[in-house]
Amino acid sequence: MKILIIGSGGREHALAWKLKQSKKVQKVYCAPGNAGMMRIAKCVNIQATDIASLADFASSSNINLTIVGPEQPLAMGIADEFKRRRLKVFGPEKLGAQLESSKVFAKQFMQKYHIPTAAFKVFDNLTEAVGFCKGIDFPTVIKVDGLAAGKGVMIARNLDEASRYLEQIFTQKKFGEAGIQVVIESCLEGQEVSVMIVTDGKSYAPLLPSQDHKQIFEGDKGPNTGGMGAICPVDFITERVMDQIKQFVLEPTIAGLRKENIPYRGVIYAGLMLTESGPKVLEYNCRFGDPETQAVLPMLKSDLLEVMRAVVDGRLDKARKLDWRKGSATCVIIASKGYPGKYKTGQRITGLQNIREDGAYVFHSGTRKDNNQWVTAGGRVLGVMGMSGNLKDALAKVYRIVKRIRFDGAYHRRDIGFRVLDTQKKGNHA
Ligand code: AMP
Ligand code: GLY
Repeated sequence: MKILIIGSGGREHALAWKLKQSKKVQKVYCAPGNAGMMRIAKCVNIQATDIASLADFASSSNINLTIVGPEQPLAMGIADEFKRRRLKVFGPEKLGAQLESSKVFAKQFMQKYHIPTAAFKVFDNLTEAVGFCKGIDFPTVIKVDGLAAGKGVMIARNLDEASRYLEQIFTQKKFGEAGIQVVIESCLEGQEVSVMIVTDGKSYAPLLPSQDHKQIFEGDKGPNTGGMGAICPVDFITERVMDQIKQFVLEPTIAGLRKENIPYRGVIYAGLMLTESGPKVLEYNCRFGDPETQAVLPMLKSDLLEVMRAVVDGRLDKARKLDWRKGSATCVIIASKGYPGKYKTGQRITGLQNIREDGAYVFHSGTRKDNNQWVTAGGRVLGVMGMSGNLKDALAKVYRIVKRIRFDGAYHRRDIGFRVLDTQKKGNHA
């Protein structure tokens, strides 16, 4: 089979890497892909949002299955267009992608189907939003409705911060159309975890749970990034907790989509807070997480292509159960100094040669080849993945490799997995 992967990050590199392991995969194309993916796939210079050209390419190159990495093309209706042209695509249509592309839609959906989430209200003007904030406890969480590349959420510590943020949204229109409406919701406390499932809209298969590390600095300090590292699985998600997540979140989500007549073939990612009163949904994503995918897919023993085909053909109920490796995987991101703010690119990367450790791989996010030299080309540059029998050994393996990779301004968090390691040390995990 010929596969097309849309996107250009570490997540897409991991998808290509995993799919290449399938005996049935003959060739993998990536659009636009990145320099690191070129070693295992053919990169095609079409942007991820250029839907018409992507569909033309899939059609003229006889692509058997297209997998959409990022949210923007899904929110723009790439799956609708592919289906219209009878091209097979893994990823929801525009209607289903609203779970991610509209926080108002997602919150109202959860309310309607009694899916546990933070209490909330929706506003479309400054006066009422600020008025509401005058009568509530802080901290509170303010989210713009539309896609904002992970930058549309603010935890306001007091009325002053909330008012300033709401002014940026409604008066200065900092988020443009994405900020026409806002959700203001109560602030939840607990462990944050990611649970992804694949679904054909009727049945679903959960992937192993993972935990991202969103803030730039150690100890989860500083501004949010796209994600600085991930671990898989997560000890806090015991079988009992997973059963709760299935019963109260995953099953009602699928049932709700069916009731709304929203077809869905792809990934649903539930960002969850494990609170004292049970798991609650912080957000849905309509795609694989990045960097969670780089830690989750290496743990999957099953053939990913088979699973994806079952999803796309609507026969997931008949597919083989997913088979997972024992142990742990982790992915640590090496970023450019300054990220998530301004950073330099074009820095020469050394140490990428001869990394051939068993159970380890370097996924590329923002790299380029310049005169046959690897150079940096983004904020998140590389993701080093390592697997082992336990989290501690997986981390040790990854950090050994991270040390060998160098470029001017290379930055990584040294504490990926700290929450799970702390709990393991205390010995109070199940
Ligand atoms: P979201 O894009 O909705 O997941 O929000 C981005 C990040 O903000 C999440 O990953 C959480 O770390 C944090 N967050 C979102 N909603 C809440 C909430 N209700 N309570 C506490 N933290 C939240
Ligand atoms: N790692 C968070 C996300 O993919 O949205």
